[in-house]
Amino acid sequence: MRETQAKKLQELVESSAPKRSKKTRFIAITSGKGGVGKSTISSNLAYVLAQNGLNVGIFDADIGLANLDVMFNVKIKKNILHVLKGEASVADILIPITRNLILIPGESGDEILKYADMALFERFMQEAQVLDKLDVMIIDTGAGIGEHIQMFLKAADDVVVVTVPDPAAITDAYATIKTVATLRNDILMIMNQVKSDKEAKAVFDKIQKVAHSNIRASLDLQLLGKINSDPKVAISVKQRALFSVAYPNSSPHRDILHIASQISAKLERDMLVTPNESGLSGLFRRLMEHF
Ligand SMILES: Nc1ncnc2c1ncn2[C@@H]1O[C@H](COP(=O)(O)OP(=O)(O)OP(=O)(O)O)[C@@H](O)[C@H]1O
Ligand SMILES: [Mg+2]
Repeated sequence: MRETQAKKLQELVESSAPKRSKKTRFIAITSGKGGVGKSTISSNLAYVLAQNGLNVGIFDADIGLANLDVMFNVKIKKNILHVLKGEASVADILIPITRNLILIPGESGDEILKYADMALFERFMQEAQVLDKLDVMIIDTGAGIGEHIQMFLKAADDVVVVTVPDPAAITDAYATIKTVATLRNDILMIMNQVKSDKEAKAVFDKIQKVAHSNIRASLDLQLLGKINSDPKVAISVKQRALFSVAYPNSSPHRDILHIASQISAKLERDMLVTPNESGLSGLFRRLMEHF
């Protein structure tokens, strides 16, 4: 029963995939410990990528502890759960933030899993093509890895584990890496709230060394970048502004620019080597494989 359902779902995904749409890169931002800067990084990174001319979506999968709406200073009325319940269309829930940037309000509760049935997915897939024009979708997952977040972490193109350099956060980041390593072999890290490149590299090297000897030597763990600790970040969060907008001369903004350029380089590289797999339908196809 489950198998036929999965097969039908797969056929549906294939038939509803638009033929010429481009591939959207899905980047999941996660962490072990809460409050390490996931939403700050997700929102500023999304903004900078959009400013660079990419079409960007940012998906708040942590709406229970909602803060992307706060980060962008917008009001959310309906989220993806309303779409699955048939109470709103995908277009209804999208919140335009700036040129090239939309916020997709998510739902963190497990209630969403109750709606994972054929008819609703069918509706969703047809509607979700609105999102296929996106170049990048950033998924802010919230801290800790629940069951439904694992599906995203497996299906995403990149998983970024954020940590700060304090021992408790490092321990939790390592535990997260260990879990993610059961789902995939490539994991990226961002060191937030560091003093320097040197500190970021030293903390990363330590984590990588332990991961290589205790998880597996072949684990592809890479440092995507770092963000310096700067009171301007906390000030801008309090003012409900992005630091990349409010403080374009700050060092955290330069750090985000660097991370964005790394991501753009990945996008270009992958455009050359990977066969076309279309947007959101592509992500769902990959999610489907795990049912
Ligand atoms: N580079 C930084 N420098 C200074 N303060 C920072 C920096 N990054 C984040 N912060 C502070 O940490 C706070 C928490 O950040 P944020 O809300 O992005 O974390 P989070 O990981 O999304 O949290 P949660 O797990 O609750 O979703 C911010 O409000 C900000 O004050
Ligand atoms: Mg957050």
